[in-house]
Amino acid sequence: MTRVALVTGGTRGIGAAISKALKAAGYKVAASYAGNDSAAEKFKSETGIPVFKWDVSSFDACAEGVKKVEAELGPVDILINNAGITRDGAFHKMTLEQWNAVINTNLGSLFNMTRQVIEGMRTRKFGRVINISSINGQKGQFGQVNYSAAKAGDIGFTKALALENARGGITVNVICPGYINTEMVQAVPKDVLDKAILPLIPCNRLGEAEEIARAVLFLAGDDAGYITGSTLTINGGQYMV
Ligand SMILES: NC(=O)c1ccc[n+]([C@@H]2O[C@H](COP(=O)([O-])OP(=O)(O)OC[C@H]3O[C@@H](n4cnc5c(N)ncnc54)[C@H](OP(=O)(O)O)[C@@H]3O)[C@@H](O)[C@H]2O)c1
Repeated sequence: MTRVALVTGGTRGIGAAISKALKAAGYKVAASYAGNDSAAEKFKSETGIPVFKWDVSSFDACAEGVKKVEAELGPVDILINNAGITRDGAFHKMTLEQWNAVINTNLGSLFNMTRQVIEGMRTRKFGRVINISSINGQKGQFGQVNYSAAKAGDIGFTKALALENARGGITVNVICPGYINTEMVQAVPKDVLDKAILPLIPCNRLGEAEEIARAVLFLAGDDAGYITGSTLTINGGQYMV
């Protein structure tokens, strides 16, 4: 039977590339998003992938959203926790709002979303949970205490959940992208990118969203059934762990 994949933040950037790659591989795909209706509608009309709007930082909204996805497509077999935001600033100037928004969207969402689907995966004895963390969760980043903390949390979440579910046919893995050419990175000033970021990347270029999507596709498949609790680094050689 065709497996169902749900990609949070699946209408733009890395998530859009993941949604498209999963669809091209034959999965039934749903993409969620937060509020950018025009980007979501454009994505839907170009790809034919259904889109669903809710805030992944809200547990209740996730419960309701996943219910709608499952009513339309069937039980979720593959969950890609991709939605994420940045609210950068030096810690000594960081507001509680900046902290909470980033922690709740990038880390709280893993609880809010995964909790909705894990019991079904356990019952059906198959599941794939793939979390999108970041290089900055591995090494830390100036101005990103909130983001680095959340993304490091994603890695711990992955390992513990992988342990709890390894016997049940469910794998849980995390991908740590480096700098990928999406709107999130295009928002970084060009001189910062050219002078402070590119020189640190041995491959001497930004990564492409499709390069992350290909790794997700592999981890989602049956061939990756023995890979669980892994942290996959995809960063052009910028940080080796
Ligand atoms: N780009 C990079 O270089 C890079 C590097 C390392 C890690 N990452 C991680 O990769 C993931 C995707 O990044 P990206 O660059 O592709 O981001 P992006 O282009 O900004 O797209 C973010 C997506 O997440 C959705 N989203 C944001 N907040 C949400 C919320 N509260 N509820 C539901 N959906 C929400 C957005 O929805 P709307 O369209 O409605 O806003 C959008 O679809 C993030 O977790 C990010 O931290 C990115």
